[in-house]
Amino acid sequence: MKKLLVTSALPYANGPIHLGHLVEAVQTDVIVRWQRLAGRDAIYVCADDTHGTPIELKAREQGVTPEALIARVGEGHRRDFADFEINFARYGSTHTPENRAVAVEIFERLRARGDIDRRPIELSYCEKDRRFLPDRFVRGTCPRCGAADQYGDVCESCKSTYRPEELKDARCALCGTPPVRRTSTHYFFKLSRHLPLLSGIAGGQAEPRVDVQVQRFLQGWIDKGLDDWCVSRDGPYFGFPIPGEEDKFFYVWLDAPIGYISNSPERDAYWRKEADAEIWHVIGKDIIYFHALFWPAMLEGADYKLPSRILVHGMLNVRGEKMSKSRGRLTTAREYLSVPGLHPEHLRYYFAANLPPEPVDIDLNAADFRHRVNAELVNNVANFAHRTLSLLRDRFGGRIAAAEPGPAWTEAVEALRAAVPAYEALDLKSAVAAIVAGCAVGNGFLQANKPWAAEPGKAHADLSLCVNLAYAAALLLSPVTPGMSAEVLRQVGREGATLADLGLGGGGLPAPWIREGKVGEGRALMPRIETKAAQALVPGEGAVKEASNATARGSLAPAVSPGVGRGEGAAGLPEIPFETFAALDLRCGVILAAETVAGAKKLLKLTVDLGEGSPRVIASGIAESFRPEQLVERHVVVVANLAPRTLRGIASRGMLLAAGDGAAVSLVELPRGVPAGAKVR
Ligand code: MSP
Ligand code: ZN
Repeated sequence: MKKLLVTSALPYANGPIHLGHLVEAVQTDVIVRWQRLAGRDAIYVCADDTHGTPIELKAREQGVTPEALIARVGEGHRRDFADFEINFARYGSTHTPENRAVAVEIFERLRARGDIDRRPIELSYCEKDRRFLPDRFVRGTCPRCGAADQYGDVCESCKSTYRPEELKDARCALCGTPPVRRTSTHYFFKLSRHLPLLSGIAGGQAEPRVDVQVQRFLQGWIDKGLDDWCVSRDGPYFGFPIPGEEDKFFYVWLDAPIGYISNSPERDAYWRKEADAEIWHVIGKDIIYFHALFWPAMLEGADYKLPSRILVHGMLNVRGEKMSKSRGRLTTAREYLSVPGLHPEHLRYYFAANLPPEPVDIDLNAADFRHRVNAELVNNVANFAHRTLSLLRDRFGGRIAAAEPGPAWTEAVEALRAAVPAYEALDLKSAVAAIVAGCAVGNGFLQANKPWAAEPGKAHADLSLCVNLAYAAALLLSPVTPGMSAEVLRQVGREGATLADLGLGGGGLPAPWIREGKVGEGRALMPRIETKAAQALVPGEGAVKEASNATARGSLAPAVSPGVGRGEGAAGLPEIPFETFAALDLRCGVILAAETVAGAKKLLKLTVDLGEGSPRVIASGIAESFRPEQLVERHVVVVANLAPRTLRGIASRGMLLAAGDGAAVSLVELPRGVPAGAKVR
């Protein structure tokens, strides 16, 4: 069987995952889950894109090394994706020795075949900062329309593009000094040497295959002429040094796509030219040039396997504008997760329902989000399963009967079956619509036949047919709503079912799959979205801030997706600079003794060794969760520089970190090997 590797674009490690990134991650994840459901050997690989000037500057601003910055951001990215049930075979990084090795290898191969040119060019340079300024770091007045404070490459007001030296009163964006021109020698990739391949892609004759709209973009660029592409940058730069050069680095966009290769498990099984495998890339329409022109040309030049397909999605917009950090219209993944009443699968559903295989933008609108998710996912799909299963339990003790299918069965199964070719065509929008249509037939059938009132023989047969429809619908929707679907499959006793079990491929119509047995206990499937929660989704429509100060605990029917570690979600407090965090003196404390406090039900008096010579007394409100003797010798995390407080007459010097409240407190603990007083960072 041909192996399939699917990637999504590598998010920059200079900021958090936001809903725009999630459009892409959901699209890719649904596609890969579908392929696996259909029995194929498919994996999803992604990584952080860690190099470039913005990351270098951000680290500097925060007073940390770029390595520390990308490690921290990377952890956040992994957690965010995990909480949205994105199932990576690997989520890596571009800042690894492997990626460096492959980048150097590819660069050398391109150089050896004459694809790389080296020549001096003139660039903007800030003498005060002593650095070359990328276009984005020169600002000034647009030479075309006169708009003030524009970037060095494009005017956001009139959209014209120009060179930074054309700006009127150009300034260094970092310090405000007017830049000077300075010469530096750089490397260029001669893209036009790959014109036959690129024309083939644009014309639809060569792989990677792209949508016709994307072909048109490509042809437009080719018609304008393919310029050489500068693939080097001067230091200071966070990236891989170019061998044999002093203070020159690969441009981030050279080593970023190479991260697809270096982060693939069993790399050769996918990327060797002769490998019996397929590679698909999923990207947004803003990075087509890099993926459909530069990247295939680099791979061809370096003798690697080419992707067979590039799937391009549109942008997630808010009131018509791209959702991006720079424009401050961004809802982060964490903010979403912190809103009580918003479930990750609500968003997965909504995105899938809006993702055709063409690059069509999605306009995020709170009312539409709420209406569609409630009407389709909750009231139609989830409710159909819920009604059916509850009625079967109430009237027939949950027992399933054999039943002869009639016309409604045919109609519903035909509707559901249409999801299969839609998924195969990467048309998630149509796949979801087919499943919703199938469930609508089922709901109509329930409404018409009223199995809550009908004569038992008929009611039992009708409900048993509906159990089968609910099963098929849940299985077909499982790539989109893995948690909810798993719950339905559990209730009907078909955990681990695959597409083959439905036998939808052949010409004939399958008979009901489940003809006997008893359904499992019922649990909530999917909560509705309330108006207030939906508003929190869109900046400016409600108050993300306000809603996110609450915790999401408990309210989201965790039974729906047992695999998803949601916990309390983020508190959603405003971002803090690193310095604020660094002001906390967190230490490992070893609890030497613990005793109850007369008259204080919740309080324990602890004696804690912080490695200071004499131990401290700390009063801690954890008495409902721990007996004193359970605490001795635990290694906990203590805020050591908290101002002292007197609680119930005890002078308390410090505080223990813990999660939960009431009788369900867990302490943040360190392994026994960490000594008292060790700094926690
Ligand atoms: N680091 C590059 C990609 C390198 S791939 C070798 C990059 N990073 S990004 O973080 O800006 O974007 C990552 C992906 O998310 C891109 O495919 C981009 O199109 C997508 N999106 C970012 N914002 C988006 C929206 N508002 N809407 C939809 N997708 C968006 O580009
Ligand atoms: Zn400067």
